[in-house]
Amino acid sequence: MRQSSLVVMANRLPIDDSVAPDGACEWRRSPGGLVSALHPLLKHTPATWIGWAGGTGPAPALPDVDGVRLHTVPLTPEDFRDHYEGFANATLWPLYHDAVEQPEHHRRWWEAYQRVNRRFAEAAAEVAEPGGVAWVQDYHLQLVPALLRELRPDLRIGFFLHVPFPPPELFMQLPRRAELLRGMLGADLVGFQRAQAAHNFAQLVAKVFGVPATDRQIEVDGRTVRVGAFPVSIDTAEMAALATRPDVVARADQLRKDLGDPEHVILSVDRMDYTKGIEHRLKAYSELIASGHVKVRDTVMVQVAVPSRERVGQYQILRDRVEREVGRINGEFGRVGEPAIHYLTQPFDRAELAALYRMADVMAVTPLRDGMNLVAKEYVAARVDDSGALLLSEFAGAAAEMPEAYLVNPHDLEGLKQGLLAALQADPADAAARMRAMRAHLHRYDIRSWVRSYLSTLDGTGSVPHELTTD
Ligand code: ADP
Ligand code: G6P
Repeated sequence: MRQSSLVVMANRLPIDDSVAPDGACEWRRSPGGLVSALHPLLKHTPATWIGWAGGTGPAPALPDVDGVRLHTVPLTPEDFRDHYEGFANATLWPLYHDAVEQPEHHRRWWEAYQRVNRRFAEAAAEVAEPGGVAWVQDYHLQLVPALLRELRPDLRIGFFLHVPFPPPELFMQLPRRAELLRGMLGADLVGFQRAQAAHNFAQLVAKVFGVPATDRQIEVDGRTVRVGAFPVSIDTAEMAALATRPDVVARADQLRKDLGDPEHVILSVDRMDYTKGIEHRLKAYSELIASGHVKVRDTVMVQVAVPSRERVGQYQILRDRVEREVGRINGEFGRVGEPAIHYLTQPFDRAELAALYRMADVMAVTPLRDGMNLVAKEYVAARVDDSGALLLSEFAGAAAEMPEAYLVNPHDLEGLKQGLLAALQADPADAAARMRAMRAHLHRYDIRSWVRSYLSTLDGTGSVPHELTTD
């Protein structure tokens, strides 16, 4: 077994097995923020990525991609149902997102979660070089740090949570709360998107275990566990370069023509997830049309919503409701050849996404709760001429970093409508000043600075930069 000095573990590998029916393999990203964040890092670092390839058969042997070894962990149909769809996405995901949908609790799911976490820890123990770094990602694998420490105490172990970490009163609902915290405490560094999440974690650890815990470090079992906020970012330069490529510029122009050259284009790009606030946004848009504030011929909305976690009941219900609402709005307000909403559920490649970002005057990113939201950052990075307006939910992690966006509370329908109108009618000079400030921020705090800041803190050579720790 070949070993690596950096081992990254994430439930999902950066490619879908459907991409490689003939065994050929390319860096085709699976949609989702975690993969988008880590993909640029691993392209330039010799590392092994341990993850699941998307099916429920035996683990396929995937070739190295751009120097990165892909080590697949198999999931059985029961693991898929009880670990991935169950504990990860029907217990933890809703609970961590303010319980906007009701979390479910089943003892069988917890068994599967433990089993799959153990499998990941064993895989990492095999492929990590002596004294190497193991970096565990996200809520699917919260038990891995402690399990891996037992197997390989020589490793430096990091854990990063890409999603929000809830306040104690919500987390305390979890029947296995102590075990989940213990799992995370196996890491040398526990990283979150926002300082508030680090604070919630420290409070919980102090409450549940009665050990000394601050928002920066926790003493447990004679070890020090560091804690911090490391807001994840994007490859800003890559997105800006893509958005200026002549074929992408031409494609953006073409897209706009295909939409009938409207005065305003509003764009939203989401995974089909109940945390993204899609229904609230559609309601706001439809009320603005009904009241005459928005005219369908002048303004067009493009909603991209790529299906996600499709067998989980809450996701099926959401998709049905969204599709019914899009149908209703188009039926009521559209005309032949002039729909009010263009609705697309396909995955797109990076160039097509960049063309969409480039084409849109207003980007509406209005999640009810979101760890970061990289789509908001991608849009800003693509606006190389400082035009365009970002409508952004206060409840996305990105809002703490980009206060120059048109910020809204998506639960407040009137506020959402006002925000959308403000973004549509923005004074160009004011909008450009806002966009310039946000682009400057992303230029400085890109994905490389995130990785540097996390890994240097993990190996003890750096510390959490102060400006990244405040909410
Ligand atoms: P989440 O992590 O909840 O999925 P983010 O906004 O942080 O949300 O990340 C979503 C990522 O998935 C972004 O990098 C975005 O470009 C990508 N993405 C979203 N929709 C699509 C799509 N239809 N095709 C390809 N990539 C997509
Ligand atoms: C979010 C999560 C990731 C996950 C992604 C896509 O970004 O934080 O861990 O990979 O959504 O979801 P999926 O269930 O398709 O992996």
